[in-house]
Amino acid sequence: MPERVMTGDRPTGKLHLGHYVGSLRRRLDLQETHPMTVLVADLQALTTHAERPQEVRQAIRDVTLDYLAVGLEPARTTIALQSLLPELAELAAIFGLLVTVGHLYRNPTIKAERASLDIDEEQLTYGFLGYPVSQAADIVGLGGVLVPVGADQVPHIEEARRIVRRFNSLYGETLVEPRALVGEVPRLSGLYGKDKMSKSLGNAIFLADPPDVLRKKVRQIYTDPTRLRATDPGHLEGNVVFEYLDAFDPDREDLARLKDRYQAGGVGDVAVKERLFEVLDGLLAPIRERRALWEQDPEAVDRVLQEGTTRARAIAIRVLSQVRDAMGLPLRL
Ligand code: TRP
Repeated sequence: MPERVMTGDRPTGKLHLGHYVGSLRRRLDLQETHPMTVLVADLQALTTHAERPQEVRQAIRDVTLDYLAVGLEPARTTIALQSLLPELAELAAIFGLLVTVGHLYRNPTIKAERASLDIDEEQLTYGFLGYPVSQAADIVGLGGVLVPVGADQVPHIEEARRIVRRFNSLYGETLVEPRALVGEVPRLSGLYGKDKMSKSLGNAIFLADPPDVLRKKVRQIYTDPTRLRATDPGHLEGNVVFEYLDAFDPDREDLARLKDRYQAGGVGDVAVKERLFEVLDGLLAPIRERRALWEQDPEAVDRVLQEGTTRARAIAIRVLSQVRDAMGLPLRL
């Protein structure tokens, strides 16, 4: 049996192209060959959205629909909801015994998120600081060994590995160390360069964007500020249009020729953007079609999540009983 793939997303809004290159594309390949569980991590979303639970609730549906729209198949892939899996919370409490607060403070992703959300010491909740511990419980509790994620998640997978090693050294070889699978495009810039693509920064192209919105966003993309005329030589570094073409254009040879012409001043931004629009629209069109089908039957979407959660729960119950057994915790008195 191939190793189980496990990954997930925070439901804080609709998924975008950054999610697609960072992880979704990989999941589509892996679901052909591996058992896989994908978690809608609503409790983790609440670590930054405690004041906005209704937004998270709505996003649970949006993200599930995004999964189905990109082509995750519920008959193969288990799609589950974190907050309906109480065993994960119990496992997180146990894993919390194996991590120091100092180590969590030094987690580079936690640091970066604190900086960008401006979370000072007084605003830093126990839940936010500890979410990598809960994420380790998601992975291990759902039997995950391969974890396809974007580059920003690698410190969390490292944390999960440390926890597993510590658990095994204290209580005997019980758990398997998970491994991160980082996509070929580990990070995608937002429309205006510099920052990574993110819903909260307002620089994202969503999988659900209709063609007219896509066209408008492509027009706004940051290209080469040194270039005033189409006949000036263009630069590729820091040029988001070419970053996206690199990530999404399936015709590599033709793209290489386009880059040569661009650098020689033989093609203008408008033409390059037209090509990018075609490439992205080609990617999104089948996603839109599948979305339209599922949107006609919202109850079927809920059913996918309910049935997936039931399947995932059976795994979580099994893992937790192995954990309790290894630690010598009583099963009953
Ligand atoms: N932290 C991930 C993100 O922000 C979401 C997530 C929650 C996750 N649990 C996980 C990812 C388990 C991989 C494995 O996208």
